[in-house]
Amino acid sequence: MLELVLMVLDLNEIERLALKELSQAKTGAALEKIRIKYFGRRRGILQNVTKQIPKLPKEQKAGIGTKINKLRTKLEQLLNQQAKPVSIKKESSVDLTTPGKEIDLGGTHPLTSVIDEVKEIFHSLGFSWIDGPEVELDAYNFQKLNMPQNHPARDVQQTYYINDELLLRTHTSSMQVRYMEDHKPPIRVLFPGRCYRRDMPDSTHLPSFYQIEGLLIDDASKMSDLIGTLDYFAKSFFGKNLKTRVYGHHFAYTEPSIEMEVYYPGKGWLEILGAGMVNPIVLKNGRIDPNKFRGWAFGMGPDRLALLKYGISDIRSLYNSDLRFLKQF
Ligand code: PHE
Repeated sequence: MLELVLMVLDLNEIERLALKELSQAKTGAALEKIRIKYFGRRRGILQNVTKQIPKLPKEQKAGIGTKINKLRTKLEQLLNQQAKPVSIKKESSVDLTTPGKEIDLGGTHPLTSVIDEVKEIFHSLGFSWIDGPEVELDAYNFQKLNMPQNHPARDVQQTYYINDELLLRTHTSSMQVRYMEDHKPPIRVLFPGRCYRRDMPDSTHLPSFYQIEGLLIDDASKMSDLIGTLDYFAKSFFGKNLKTRVYGHHFAYTEPSIEMEVYYPGKGWLEILGAGMVNPIVLKNGRIDPNKFRGWAFGMGPDRLALLKYGISDIRSLYNSDLRFLKQF
């Protein structure tokens, strides 16, 4: 009790002294001295008083904290007020009191945040990443992925052709063979980027969207590693209680192939990615010996991940740059 009274007195005394010093301070340097004396992180008077709080009886702590804060705010305000220039030469044509222009710093687009987060999770598993061309050869987008001309699997991917050989890539799998041609296993890499398909825009489709491809090649990888890794990824991204499941699928460039779904309360099972063991034909096309090496690959849509993670109902809102929408993130 005695200590508390002393503290209160101290606070009054501190305030009185500070006000006196402030009234006498004429220069910026003098004000700075006062600022350090009262607010300095290490030896500031208010800091020291705050440190005494734990020594007080419990029921009195809250009250004293508020008092210190009030005093702090008051002194800060006075310091700031006094820091403003008081007199300006009349003949100056520049008004030094004009407030500066506010700088709009902007924020990270939700799609960028999702892509960054996916990269981060896989980075912790030893993956790096690299960009690739959006205007791509038919050879890398289809042929070397075991989808020759007239292969029925091409129909699924409505393609924008530039000419017979060039197209806008329909998926980031186009980077698989490109990367294999220039790199020796072990390989652990992500290919994030834009893809294009002739789709009518609606709440779940756009003619331009993002994908993130993953490719791992070494001499021991297994299907169970792939599934375990994807499950680890999904839980890291959505939360550790997330339920996932995989089921058989078909892609010409993976064998066997799977898709993964995550369970979203209220929405049910939703597909988030396709994957599989890299087809030996594709390894061969990438000049990697399928008798020595094996690997797996996956492709996911960060747009879809963003919709799920942030509860966005229309994929188009990710692309139409409406600040009212973007400012929520
Ligand atoms: N490219 C596939 C798609 O666009 C996804 C995928 C990538 C599947 C890699 C298997 C392996 O849907």
